[in-house]
Amino acid sequence: MAAFKISGYTILVGAGGGIGTELGASFAEAGSRGVLFGDINYDAAVKAAEGSKSVAIAKDYKAVAVKVDVTNAKSVQEMVDLAVKEFGRIDYVVNAAGVDGRKNVPFDQADVADFDRVFDINAKSILYVTQSVAKVMKAQESAKVDLGRHGVKDLGRGSIVNISSILGISALPNKVAYITSKHAVGGLTRACAVDYKSLGIRCNQVCPSWVDTPMSHEEYNRIPHLRGLIEQLPAAGRLIAPYEVASACLYLCTPAAYYINGSTLTLDSCVLVGPAVPAVE
Ligand SMILES: NC(=O)c1ccc[n+]([C@@H]2O[C@H](COP(=O)([O-])OP(=O)(O)OC[C@H]3O[C@@H](n4cnc5c(N)ncnc54)[C@H](O)[C@@H]3O)[C@@H](O)[C@H]2O)c1
Repeated sequence: MAAFKISGYTILVGAGGGIGTELGASFAEAGSRGVLFGDINYDAAVKAAEGSKSVAIAKDYKAVAVKVDVTNAKSVQEMVDLAVKEFGRIDYVVNAAGVDGRKNVPFDQADVADFDRVFDINAKSILYVTQSVAKVMKAQESAKVDLGRHGVKDLGRGSIVNISSILGISALPNKVAYITSKHAVGGLTRACAVDYKSLGIRCNQVCPSWVDTPMSHEEYNRIPHLRGLIEQLPAAGRLIAPYEVASACLYLCTPAAYYINGSTLTLDSCVLVGPAVPAVE
């Protein structure tokens, strides 16, 4: 059962990935009437779209899969056009496409071509997606919601959530490409929030630490002692489950988050707060 309720239509970018697949199920389960699953891996997008149908609660729920390359503005525009054709409007967008650098290497050995590849997929893609969806959101009516004793509220024209990383607000050694791209997601999020706030389009970012998807498993291979470090994390002592990231994104799209705009929601079980020290008796 979803922790939050929404209605309206969704575009998920990177929808075939570990987090993207869970986002699809979570948005469907929370009441989204239609979800467009965009990924460069079309088969994975189809699988995620099919999987979402069994948990969707909207009677007329529609799941559509499309191949998109987020580094290509034309491909992104075609994805957004398809969403408009299928749904008529776009209420929520989650940017979850992403890659890591091919290798963890010291700063002075960073490969420029790989830096560009990571930046284009993780950061520049968000410019393309946001520009395309904002044109649609600008032109659509604000959504309204009946909050019972709080009355009928205007929800604005849309909510965009960007998945950054704790490496978007901190750094680890040997990951300059990934770290730079994720810091740029913060800039894109804040610029989007201030430029579109008068139009009722909100934009926020979530910054998870290590999530239980193939991306983290690959990092375990590169940094063998990482697993032990994560198991010692102050609160959780484990990887984040993909549904926990999806729930944070979902929350930012609910009426409860209407006042949250240009913000960063960190999911890191105190990693950035600091090391745990024994309690003083
Ligand atoms: N897994 C983690 O530990 C972790 C932690 C913090 C942040 N994140 C971020 O969360 C997001 C999702 O990560 P994940 O763990 O689900 O990884 P994943 O590899 O499972 O999913 C990423 C998806 O992006 C898609 N993609 C890659 N290049 C693309 C392109 N050019 N066009 C369209 N789609 C493309 C892939 O096909 C894949 O389905 C990424 O932005 C990642 O940086 C992940």
